Amino acid sequence: MTETNKPIDCVVCGSCVVDILVRPVPLEKSIGGGHLIQVDPIEVTTGGIVSNSGIAMSRLGMQAVALSYVGSDQWGSMLRDRYREQGLNADHLVTHPEDPTSTTAVLIDQGGERSFAHCVGAPERLDRAFFMDRIDLFAKSRMMLLGYYSLMPGLEGDLAGVLAEIRKRGCLTALDAAGQGGSMDPLREILPHLDIYVPSHAEAINQTGKTIPREIITVFRDYGAVGLLGVKLGSEGALLQTATGDWIEVPAVQAPSEVVDTTGAGDSFYAGLLTGLLRGMNESDAGSLAAACGACCVTGLGATGGLRSFEETARLAGLI
Ligand SMILES: Nc1ncnc2c1ncn2[C@@H]1O[C@H](COP(=O)(O)OP(=O)(O)OP(=O)(O)O)[C@@H](O)[C@H]1O
Ligand SMILES: [Mg+2]
Repeated sequence: MTETNKPIDCVVCGSCVVDILVRPVPLEKSIGGGHLIQVDPIEVTTGGIVSNSGIAMSRLGMQAVALSYVGSDQWGSMLRDRYREQGLNADHLVTHPEDPTSTTAVLIDQGGERSFAHCVGAPERLDRAFFMDRIDLFAKSRMMLLGYYSLMPGLEGDLAGVLAEIRKRGCLTALDAAGQGGSMDPLREILPHLDIYVPSHAEAINQTGKTIPREIITVFRDYGAVGLLGVKLGSEGALLQTATGDWIEVPAVQAPSEVVDTTGAGDSFYAGLLTGLLRGMNESDAGSLAAACGACCVTGLGATGGLRSFEETARLAGLI
């Protein structure tokens, strides 16, 4: 499926966040007016697709590279250190001269419900020039994954052209969405330049106005999508459609231990899917590896605490 004589398997680009986890916070009550809330030790984790999918792909044995902006602050240094500890290449994290590292305070209540206080920070500056200045990096990579559609205002209008240039370098393109998912504008122009597009169900509903997964995918196809399409369906798995029009129902894989935290399941799914395809699996097996990777993710705290090795994940998927 891809050129195999390249040194990098996947460049993971876009959202690159430090998550500060605070719990338990009684979210049903007012926390204003100078309350002091006693909490568990506050933990710091990494988030965003660059962290989540990048670390997951590294865990699955892929040569992954993180590409984004961080700030000239302690959080940027922390991201670099954490990525390196996890085997994710951090050499292409660029320090933005003015804007800070993207950070989120995640307030979690007793039941696991979450509210967020988020500073978008430097990744909001990603634009066409940032990618075109680094086009040689994509030429050295078999694939790229970018996220999240609907949250990259400075890039989305130019994204179709950027992806076209990346593909010309023999690098396959994949995109994930987040937030509300945005609309078909400018997604309609982007779809013809994507090799892989598998948003979540809620995002895809907002984009297309359809709710039935086959109808959603048909809308994407009618707009000229040429690649592997799909919809992630949470604990029900996913529906995929190959570039040649075959439907693949990917059943969910039973989580290998108690479900602790579903943060990052979608990014882990992508990591498994791309790893499977890069290893030469057909779309059905790659989908199973994706579902197994998502199922591992939900068993640990944060997006990466539950991840397992390629062997364990593939065994869980029934592939070995
Ligand atoms: N509770 C679960 N048990 C087993 N597998 C799960 C569970 N939740 C999610 N998954 C797997 O992870 C995949 C991705 O999850 P989901 O559909 O929630 O993506 P998403 O909405 O993009 O997630 P995120 O909130 O991380 O962005 C699913 O397709 C499924 O295979
Ligand atoms: Mg998602």
